[in-house]
Amino acid sequence: MSAEPGIYDVIRRRRDVRAEFSGDLVDDRTLLRILDAAHRAPSVGNSQPWDFVVVRDRETLTTFAAHVADKRLEFRDALPAERARTFEPIKIEGITESGTGIVVTHDDQRGGPHVLGRASVPETGLYSTILAIQNLWLAATAEGVGVGWVSFYDTPFLADLIGLPVGVRPVAWLCVGPVDSFQEVPDLERFGWRARRSLEEAVHWEQFRG
Ligand SMILES: Cc1cc2nc3c(=O)[nH]c(=O)nc-3n(C[C@H](O)[C@H](O)[C@H](O)COP(=O)(O)O)c2cc1C
Repeated sequence: MSAEPGIYDVIRRRRDVRAEFSGDLVDDRTLLRILDAAHRAPSVGNSQPWDFVVVRDRETLTTFAAHVADKRLEFRDALPAERARTFEPIKIEGITESGTGIVVTHDDQRGGPHVLGRASVPETGLYSTILAIQNLWLAATAEGVGVGWVSFYDTPFLADLIGLPVGVRPVAWLCVGPVDSFQEVPDLERFGWRARRSLEEAVHWEQFRG
């Protein structure tokens, strides 16, 4: 079977989106196709430990955005002056502009006490949820829908905001909405925060050296 070239194109086009949301809402049919792609992710022991909470209520969006703004200031104020100057113009979320938040949650108890494949590496449960996020991100890109991952929040605050039961924790707030175009270069590279490493640096043959 030959590789599907389309998938490589989508992988190259995928961006973390903050400023490019068009202002339209992603329609529910498209959203459900994207969530179906997320839900088809591989998972340790087929435990499927993820859930998706779709948030569109304006009050919830603005409450979360205000919390994230506080956390952003906290982070900025802890930076050395020169890094703070580089950080200042960088937008770190598009919570209200995207109009839709998807909170991806993780339930480490899902699948019971004997999850096949998780006995030696307990983190594989969380890895599975992260894979669902990557599926979501790529499917959204293929649909012309932007995704921006927000992690500037206190976990208990977000858990309370969306009514998570004990044992279920938020892993990501994803801002999801149509975009007119994707940036070609990651924002953090464009703004001089951090550039991509070369493939050569990341690939090691036989032994990890250097
Ligand atoms: C676990 C994780 C958390 C992230 N949290 C944030 C965030 O809080 N705010 C933000 O603007 N970007 C966030 N990002 C996006 C990264 O900054 C972005 O993926 C990276 O700079 C590379 O850019 P690209 O995704 O456009 O290739 C996060 C990404 C990941 C994987």
